[in-house]
Amino acid sequence: MFPESCTDYGYEACKATSDWLLEQAPVRPLVGIVCGSGLGSLAGMLKDQKVFMYNDIPNFPQSTVHGHAGRLVFGTLKGKPCVCMQGRFHLYEGYPIHKITMPMRIFKLLGVQVVILTNAAGGLNQDYKVGDIMVIKDHINFPGFAGNNPLCGPNDERFGTRFPCMSDAYDRQLRQLAQEVGAELGYSNFLKEGVYSVLGGPSFETIAECRMLNRMGADAVGMSTVHEVIVARHSGIRVFALSLISNKAVMDYTSEEKANHEEVLETGEQRAQQLVKLVSTLVSRISQPADL
Ligand code: HPA
Repeated sequence: MFPESCTDYGYEACKATSDWLLEQAPVRPLVGIVCGSGLGSLAGMLKDQKVFMYNDIPNFPQSTVHGHAGRLVFGTLKGKPCVCMQGRFHLYEGYPIHKITMPMRIFKLLGVQVVILTNAAGGLNQDYKVGDIMVIKDHINFPGFAGNNPLCGPNDERFGTRFPCMSDAYDRQLRQLAQEVGAELGYSNFLKEGVYSVLGGPSFETIAECRMLNRMGADAVGMSTVHEVIVARHSGIRVFALSLISNKAVMDYTSEEKANHEEVLETGEQRAQQLVKLVSTLVSRISQPADL
């Protein structure tokens, strides 16, 4: 009756996977981290690691993109139990949207309370430079406008309500904390805050599309994160998300620039250390009971 993808990745499948992981995982994670393109080194900051290849995890999707390793890493960060996805899933890989977001439900069942998502994105805001880090304060969900939302289909109340609120999707306290941590680390000149717009990809945007997105209020454009955010918020997980501005979206017909995946990966490598430092310091600061 319902498309198979809505129910195939439902509560029972997620529970079986989280039980399987918890039997072997060294820690029960409170923080979940998702590494974006070129940002896989974030997982390296975890101590006492236990690594699962996606291929070995029952019901877990497989990653196909160059620059995404496809490993789930458990460990501790400054003593705090974490789980880290090294490699995520995208609509353009051809997965059903419910499968892309299934890891957020597995996180929930593992006990995760805060999820930190990272991505590489094209800068639309003319003040942004390549290498800037944008704290996401809101999103524009273009696939959602066309009916492609990960919560479409029957709602399972064990995860959350039918019509979840999204006006508070990006946790204000965590954004504030990130700005404080960024200032302390001396990152203020490249730490921004803005609106992320998601498109389906895999083709990069045309000039007209970039101009439209910018006029609609988007500061950056990418092909991920928002679907995961929606599913994480649906189940009550607090969300913090960062975009690394890996290239400037082309907005001008006289420009010779062209968006390409190699540039995205190179920028990730160059800024990765600072991004890792920002995320690890942030995680250490949300360890107070008031925050978790
Ligand atoms: N557009 C869409 N997705 C992206 C971009 C971009 O310019 N850069 C990195 N991911």
